[in-house]
Amino acid sequence: MELRSLSASSFPPCYCVKRRLVLLTLVYLLSCDVKALQVIGGSVRVVLGGTAVLPCKLIDTAEPLHQISWQRKTREKVQTDNFYTIQTSGPVFVNGNDRRFQFIGSFKDNNGTLQLTNVLLKDEGVYTCIFTVFPSGNHKTEIPLTIFVLPSVSVKDEYPLEGKEERLLATCTAAGSRPPAEVSWITGSLGDKVRATRSSTQNGNDTTTTISSLLGVPTKEINRQKVRCVVKSEAPEISQDFTIQIYFPPVEAKIVERDQDTFECLTEANPDANVTWSRSDGPLPQSAEADGGKLKLQSISSDLNGLYQCEASNQYGKKHSQLYVHVPSGSCTVCWVIFGLALIASCVVAAVVYYFKFLRNEESPQRVPTSEPEEAPGEADTNI
Ligand SMILES: *[C@@H]1O[C@H](CO)[C@@H](O)[C@H](O)[C@H]1NC(C)=O
Ligand SMILES: *[C@@H]1O[C@H](CO)[C@@H](O)[C@H](O)[C@H]1NC(C)=O
Ligand SMILES: *[C@@H]1O[C@H](CO)[C@@H](O)[C@H](O)[C@H]1NC(C)=O
Repeated sequence: MELRSLSASSFPPCYCVKRRLVLLTLVYLLSCDVKALQVIGGSVRVVLGGTAVLPCKLIDTAEPLHQISWQRKTREKVQTDNFYTIQTSGPVFVNGNDRRFQFIGSFKDNNGTLQLTNVLLKDEGVYTCIFTVFPSGNHKTEIPLTIFVLPSVSVKDEYPLEGKEERLLATCTAAGSRPPAEVSWITGSLGDKVRATRSSTQNGNDTTTTISSLLGVPTKEINRQKVRCVVKSEAPEISQDFTIQIYFPPVEAKIVERDQDTFECLTEANPDANVTWSRSDGPLPQSAEADGGKLKLQSISSDLNGLYQCEASNQYGKKHSQLYVHVPSGSCTVCWVIFGLALIASCVVAAVVYYFKFLRNEESPQRVPTSEPEEAPGEADTNI
């Protein structure tokens, strides 16, 4: 009304007439829309192997229903295919039975809803539901069916050895996704010490495999840092945590005295090193017991005398260190010497520390002259 009074006063008469016509048409269309018979459908997305419900219902009519029929145009049936009809007597397959389809609607309620179980990729396409009523004839709607496939996500360690050049640290794979998944890394405090590259391949089965590779310079600084791979697909976001591992051989083997008569061979390596104790002239004597990295001298007797060696090793290399034990006869003192050295086959043994330890009496230890190392410890690396 406002428009009319406004038009009347300020617009030329012909404009005003046109405007009123448009308004009238709109009102007419709206009223038609509310009352007219219509078929309600929808679009459906379902996971591969899942169950799709293809909704279809005829509303706003009192005309008697003669038949509901279903057509499809799918990846398998590229030509329009009439495959299912429902009459008062019940549903019938038209071109061969596919028991995965089941009528779950209600004929008397004008509900043509169809259920499809164990959905396959070939089922993807457009389904048309047609209601035939008397006297107005056919009324239909199209229901697109889209099938998605969830990726399987895995994070793989690429076993980077410590070094100075950029290397592949880990890969995150979202395999067999449809539509393609988005794969990314959350690297937290690592910032620009690492970067990611992405690649994807189309699989024969209409899915895509996306791989995100995490690269960085494999330094000890980033060893054991936590990162997270995030995969976005049709499913709720999938994420997998990963701890970066930088691998390196034992850094050194260091013998330390733990407590009275117990020595430990310490090392740093990734993966953790195996430590084995041995004696140069054969098996360990009964009075010496090795327990992992520890060597325990149990009873003080001269059969302990000898050169003991600890070897720390993992698959990337090994380091040695030696301990000389001497129990002077008739004395209650044990003297021992550690050759705190990393040995290779031809490596020269040099004494680093050389002193007496008094086990039973309380005299303070005496230092005896040390010999100069002929080769600096730690310089000799054994990398296999
Ligand atoms: C049609 O039937 C289906 C299956 O029984 C039901 O889930 C759906 O709600 C019905 N649709 C309407 C609009 O009533
Ligand atoms: C599709 O192929 C990819 C790669 O060969 C495979 O990982 C995936 O499991 C396959 N998916 C299906 C649904 O067959
Ligand atoms: C460590 O020792 C165990 C047990 O003796 C053995 O099975 C394993 O292979 C060793 N690992 C290495 C890296 O030598």
